[in-house]
Amino acid sequence: MAIAQRRLQIMNPNCLSLAIALSLLLVISSAEVFFEERFDDGWESRWVKSDWKKDENMAGEWNYTAGKWNGDPNDKGIQTSEDFRFYAVSAEFPEFSNKDKTLVFQFSVKHEQKLDCGGGYMKLLSGEIDQKKFGGETPYSIMFGPDICGYSTKKVHAILTYNGTNHLIKKEVPCETDQLTHVYTFILRPDATYSILIDNEEKQSGSVYSDWDILPPKKIKDPEAKKPEDWDDKEYIPDPEDKKPEGYDDIPKEIPDPDAKKPEDWDDEEDGEWTAPTIPNPEYKGPWKPKKIKNPNYKGKWKAPMIDNPDLKDDPDLYVFPNLKYVGVELWQVKSGTLFDNILVSDDPEYAKKLAEETWGKHKDAEKAAFDEAEKEREEEESKDDPVDSDAEDGDDDADDTKDDESDDDKSDSKEDIAASVDDDAHDEL
Ligand SMILES: *[C@@H]1O[C@H](CO)[C@@H](O)[C@H](O)[C@H]1NC(C)=O
Ligand SMILES: *[C@@H]1O[C@H](CO)[C@@H](O)[C@H](O)[C@H]1NC(C)=O
Repeated sequence: MAIAQRRLQIMNPNCLSLAIALSLLLVISSAEVFFEERFDDGWESRWVKSDWKKDENMAGEWNYTAGKWNGDPNDKGIQTSEDFRFYAVSAEFPEFSNKDKTLVFQFSVKHEQKLDCGGGYMKLLSGEIDQKKFGGETPYSIMFGPDICGYSTKKVHAILTYNGTNHLIKKEVPCETDQLTHVYTFILRPDATYSILIDNEEKQSGSVYSDWDILPPKKIKDPEAKKPEDWDDKEYIPDPEDKKPEGYDDIPKEIPDPDAKKPEDWDDEEDGEWTAPTIPNPEYKGPWKPKKIKNPNYKGKWKAPMIDNPDLKDDPDLYVFPNLKYVGVELWQVKSGTLFDNILVSDDPEYAKKLAEETWGKHKDAEKAAFDEAEKEREEEESKDDPVDSDAEDGDDDADDTKDDESDDDKSDSKEDIAASVDDDAHDEL
């Protein structure tokens, strides 16, 4: 479908009274589609492949396909087709601002490879960009979508750029990790609330103010506040009723050792008068202290009151991106096979929901069946390649297996090393 600012025509007014029709029209017809890409014929004229990483031979090719398993072979998207490659492609749409509008950014992504490290996210970019040079360094406004690397990273990114700084969402939003199509939706509303949906189900929501550290905190501890003089923050006090027992101070700290004996060869005349060595007195309990009781005047720990942060210049336009103009994919992939489709930038969550239902929703069962079939075939292939042998040949086979395992390990090690180093770079850029 071509990129155009299109009006939704959902209802037939004849069926409804004019009053209802008009009021609904006011709501529904205001839906605006800034960009929609279903990757039908002609998509190539709308997308610009970047030259980024080309001179290093590290720019990957896109495959225009519905993938190995799908619900409709004619419903194609674009899929990364080479391992260890960078991918950068973008499309332009008429510039707009999301001020006073809801912004909906949605697309579907399918990782047909068993993705161990790679992104499946997309970006919205603003202003003037040289699409031929679009790459990892190109500033973007919003980055959204799944990111998987190893066991630790399996999350949905939602990065908002404010004054040139990228801010990651503080909440964990787990992403899908299977090999099927999923629809990711980011909704940003004029009241600065947001929602993240996967397959039309809300997975996270809240306020941009609280879930990103874009602005300094609204409230801080009053730096001027002092603990009042009469603030009693002692939880326990000496018991005023407790009295020192009579004769307590007369108990000596040490006493002569009652077991000590004057040595046989002790000569009073030469050695002086014998005195027993002293030992700690078991009766002695140290200086007297009254026992402690709960303080009846205890007020709790003192805390400085919170005040409005004087450094905060509240920005009611925190959610606004005034010059949105491009949608792009910029990825590093260790293993290729990530397929993007049905990209939407709109102001209407209902429209986005319908689009998801008409595409992913309509095809997901058939896709799952096709995937299960492909898995079955793959397993059968594998068991053919690797037949279960009789005992007689066991020894040989074990040796072969070991060799295979080792070379596999080597491969995956080096892959992970590359993945880790490149991924670190990518994350540093964030
Ligand atoms: C494109 O994808 C199809 C379907 O998975 C596959 O058969 C074909 O080999 C792919 N082509 C390239 C160039 O990767
Ligand atoms: C963002 O940038 C504008 C213009 O440079 C500046 O006026 C504003 O204070 C900045 N806001 C924050 C929160 O840094």
